[in-house]
Amino acid sequence: MVLQNLKNFIKKKGGWIPFDSFMFECLYGNDDSYYMRKNTSLSGLPFGPSGDYVTSASLGHWMARAYADIYAGIISKTSNIDKEVFAIREYGPGTGELAAKILIELFDQGILPKKYEMLEISQSFIEFQKNKIADILKRHDESLYLKANNILEWKLVQVDREEFAISTDIDPINGLVIASEIIDSFPVKVALWQPTDEILELGIRINHEGDLEFQNQLADDKLIEKVLYRKNQALENGYLWTTPRMLDICFHTERWLKILMGKLSYGELIISDYGLERYELDSDNRIESNVTAFFKHTQTSKLNECLKNVGSQDLTYLVDFSQLSEFFLDQNDCYFHLKSQAAWLIDSGVLDHFSRNQDFLTKGHEMIKEVGNLQKLISDNEMGQSFLFCHVFKNNSRA
Ligand SMILES: C[S@@+](CC[C@H](N)C(=O)[O-])C[C@H]1O[C@@H](n2cnc3c(N)ncnc32)[C@H](O)[C@@H]1O
Repeated sequence: MVLQNLKNFIKKKGGWIPFDSFMFECLYGNDDSYYMRKNTSLSGLPFGPSGDYVTSASLGHWMARAYADIYAGIISKTSNIDKEVFAIREYGPGTGELAAKILIELFDQGILPKKYEMLEISQSFIEFQKNKIADILKRHDESLYLKANNILEWKLVQVDREEFAISTDIDPINGLVIASEIIDSFPVKVALWQPTDEILELGIRINHEGDLEFQNQLADDKLIEKVLYRKNQALENGYLWTTPRMLDICFHTERWLKILMGKLSYGELIISDYGLERYELDSDNRIESNVTAFFKHTQTSKLNECLKNVGSQDLTYLVDFSQLSEFFLDQNDCYFHLKSQAAWLIDSGVLDHFSRNQDFLTKGHEMIKEVGNLQKLISDNEMGQSFLFCHVFKNNSRA
């Protein structure tokens, strides 16, 4: 169904669409696209052991503890704002597990927020999240479950082909905003820079056999401008590009950040994703696009594989964290830290939690699982260095 819709769309567009349009159709374009699918039983979801990939939200309570501590910090250092008005806003909350675990942490500390807002694109995912959260909270404490019903609020985010994430009807908040692995699912353009030839844009057409295949076209001025900016920036940093290379460029990130920051009056924003800074993204040994597909826990290493399993595999790419840094450096009401996931978790006190909770962890099986989760989150070979955290402080005095 997604494939047929995609082919019709390509024909309607004159036989060729750029990669970002292809990615939009696969992930969001219609009711059975990857992130819009109606089958959201646990085994039908993209996330978790039965899906295509695992995210940090499901690796124990460590992330939730860190976010809860940050939220506690925000409300404790704010004397001039009524503590009752603080909220948490989570973009693309996945299974809902992270929200449930954060609420448990805050409930145990006696500092539940006034509101926990979930911004979700898919109505079916909302239904799944409601059930999952109810399950987790009831198991922890029935009274928390009842309280959470008045705290949790879902907002449907509208997406479209041109602008991608359209501004949702949300109020400005004081508190904590979480965007965990969101930007890597924004539709991205792929450009090809060549030393002695024109800059091209990767796109998709239908070949004579009726199959999808890649085809490059001349890039438009907007894309050329972005590529040349990165080439000149590399040169200023002492790296002269001499070999052809592909660059993944997202045109939606900045606009989304602008909207997001406009709706955070006071507090902290934490964007985490797998990605790199440009000195690594644009180094000479990275000549391929970093776009990749995940299907049943297998990551494909070839761009061509992205054309398979249309609508039923995840498409994603390495987020350009320098784009985020440039955006936040330009704002005059915030400052930020950029850290690896390992550094961010350790600075958030995760190892102190670990040593304080030895008692809880001595229950054999549980301990092995929790220690394994923590290792996965911070080890260099797993997620520790491949995930980055951009932690932004808005209208906050410097720590
Ligand atoms: C890789 S998943 C991550 C899910 C979850 N945050 C986690 O870490 O497990 C990306 C999710 O972000 C959602 N998403 C993408 N753009 C979004 C936006 N502008 N607002 C809210 N959610 C968005 C997608 O629909 C998808 O469910």
